Parts: sequence; structure tokens; C-alpha cells
Amino acid sequence: MKIAIGSDHAGFPYKDPIVARLKERGIDVIDVGTASTASTDYPIYAFRVADAVAAKHADLGVLICGTGIGMSIAANKVQGIRAGAVQSAFAASAVREHNDCNVLCVGSRTNTLPEVLSFVDAWLDATPATGERHTKRIRMISDYEGGNK
Ligand code: RB5
Repeated sequence: MKIAIGSDHAGFPYKDPIVARLKERGIDVIDVGTASTASTDYPIYAFRVADAVAAKHADLGVLICGTGIGMSIAANKVQGIRAGAVQSAFAASAVREHNDCNVLCVGSRTNTLPEVLSFVDAWLDATPATGERHTKRIRMISDYEGGNK
């Protein structure tokens, strides 16, 4: 499996520890930046990660900003992307099992690093949405979007 990861300056301190956790899990990582805590704009990295997933250069994506929310708003503009911003392990699991999120967004200002690492694990350990109850709803979204699957 390959995961694209990106952060802005706020999320940067969490990026390398998340990369390390992904590599511990045997996952290949594409790091799209940023590379420091110098102020930058989160949409740059959201679009890089979302484009990599949409183009199938990566299987999944992880984005980190202050809250995860700006990243999710931007990433969800890319066709085929279902980005979920989470602040709990329950939500991290649910966004995979119910919403089939292919991009996980987390916040460095809303959660501690150990919490965020547990969200990444919960998301990866969850079973992607199966069963007509969930897949029908996901299909409704992709149909509305214009379909890119
Ligand atoms: C940066 O200050 C902050 O606005 C950004 O990281 C993010 O939280 C936006 O959603």
C-alpha cells in the first residue's frame, strides 16, 4: 500500500511521526510537504495529496493542518476524493467503514500526537465500507459529483 501525506505549517510537527508510524506498518509513503513550520497555505498540500489519490499514484492520503477541516474542505473539491476530518478514534474508524474516506484529515491543534497516531491506526485497521447500506450512499455522492470511479 502507498499513502500520500501532506501538511501545512501547523500540521508539520505531526507529519514525520505519522510517516514513521506508516512505515512501521510497512506502508510506502509519498511526502508532498510542507518541510518546515514556516507559514504556508494548506490548500497547496490538500490538492497535491488529493490529486495523487485521484490519479491512483497513492491508494490513500493523510492531511494535517490545525484542525483538519481546511484540508478536508480543499481535498473534497477533487473528484473521487472523500476526505474526512476526525477528532476521535471512533470517527476515524467510522469514516472508513461508513463513508469509505480515502483521505484522512487530522488536526495538530485539536488533538495530541498520540491521539492522532491512534486515529491513523483506527482508520487503517477499519474495514472499508461494504454492504449496500453504505455503498448506496457513497454511490449517491459520486453520482452527484459527476462520477469519477
Ligand atoms: C493555519 O493557521 C490554520 O488555519 C490551518 O492549519 C488549518 O487549521 C485550517 O483549516
